[in-house]
Amino acid sequence: MSAIKSYIDQNKQRFIDELLNLLRIPSVSADKAFKNDVLKTADAVKAALNQAGCKMVEICETPGYPIVYGEHIIDEKLPTVLVYGHYDVQPADPIELWDSPPFEPVIKKTETHPEGAIYARGSCDDKGQMYMHIKAFEVMMQLDILPCNIKFMIEGEEEVGSESLEWFVKRNQSKLSNDVILISDTGMISNEQPSITTGLRGLSYVEVEVTGPNRDLHSGLYGGAVANPINILTKMIASLHDENNHITIPGFYDKVIEASPEERTEMAKAPFSLDAYKNALDIEDVYGETSYSTNERNSIRPTLDVNGIWGGYIGEGAKTVIASKAYAKISMRLVPDQDPDEITNLFVEHFEKIAPNVVKVKVSPHHGGHPYVTPIDNIGYQAANKAYSETFGVPAIPQRSGGSIPIVALFEKELKSKTILMGFGLDSDAIHSPNEHYGVFNYLKGIETIPLFHHYFTELYNKES
Ligand code: BES
Ligand code: MN
Ligand code: MN
Repeated sequence: MSAIKSYIDQNKQRFIDELLNLLRIPSVSADKAFKNDVLKTADAVKAALNQAGCKMVEICETPGYPIVYGEHIIDEKLPTVLVYGHYDVQPADPIELWDSPPFEPVIKKTETHPEGAIYARGSCDDKGQMYMHIKAFEVMMQLDILPCNIKFMIEGEEEVGSESLEWFVKRNQSKLSNDVILISDTGMISNEQPSITTGLRGLSYVEVEVTGPNRDLHSGLYGGAVANPINILTKMIASLHDENNHITIPGFYDKVIEASPEERTEMAKAPFSLDAYKNALDIEDVYGETSYSTNERNSIRPTLDVNGIWGGYIGEGAKTVIASKAYAKISMRLVPDQDPDEITNLFVEHFEKIAPNVVKVKVSPHHGGHPYVTPIDNIGYQAANKAYSETFGVPAIPQRSGGSIPIVALFEKELKSKTILMGFGLDSDAIHSPNEHYGVFNYLKGIETIPLFHHYFTELYNKES
């Protein structure tokens, strides 16, 4: 299979240049100001699929941003792999913290990426990882080694909740029929130790508004005599965790499946350096739920975090004021078998209950998503592991991730198929943050590993049937 490697070697510069071009289009789905760029990116993805040799490619309109759908069926008797990815990206803010402009990609060498990393919004999440699949498809077409049928479904609203994709999947079950779903939109342990993501957390997201007096007040004339909504809100938020960092919302943990001692022992074997972790983040110590390790806290345990909080005067200088309103955005990451709607309801009920009568509270739910775990005793996982073993020289380790891709649980429900999460990013790639980057090594390694997944999946599938 070293033909794959030499094809990649010969086309390496072009593969990189094509990705850089895609990264230059600011496809920020959250901000309507970028609408034309998001649409332009969908067109660019369609063109790339066509150029790679995909027989049928279409832009599927939805109530929101379009889905790029491609299909290359070579034989109905062969298995079908459905590749999912997203072409939209997170907003680049805060832009002033970037060392180079977010949509003008540059390649820089770093300690973790001695072969260079591509710095741009979306380089890792998910344009870089999604584009590996298009290039891997090109490789298979050019070398005439595509072993199975392949479908591509690349959406433009992942970063804002995948609403249109849900709409699309529910209406196109037979079109999307497949034997396994393959996604590269997660990470791995390190460039020396690949891992396969076997779990994603779910999400419940709410916005809260606390109202005190009917107008902003002079903090001298009224201070001390009227409830300050910011003081109240922060007190309420502080009470959502107890001294062990357990979440205090009644019923919150009722459906949490506790990991068995065996599973925890297995998890603890994954290579991890607490010192390196602390150093990378410049923190004196880690912080979290009592009696769980860092890796457990950020993957198999549910959380509650304030993502933003505002109110009152935040301009320059001092303004003496008691604001009428205070706000916060709060996310809860969920684990099996917590249900996002149930958790949202528990939050609303509790938050209203703990509010003192001197303020009014309003809770508005945002998008949510179900958690997901995938078993490792299936041919999809085995094929991925064989592929990684071959290109990295060591077998992959199964690892549950703390992030969320809510649509994966929906795929299982609507399309009845398992998802294999073959991510090539690193936690240190700064996705969603300033200076997001993606290793050139990771990009090319992905393009090399993906054809092997198709190869081994088809082989194992044929053996099974
Ligand atoms: N690709 C990420 C999710 C991810 C990253 C999972 C790394 C595991 C490892 C995805 O684009 C994302 O950012 N998801 C959001 C949820 C969504 C509803 C906005 C998240 O996890 O915050
Ligand atoms: Mn993503
Ligand atoms: Mn993301």
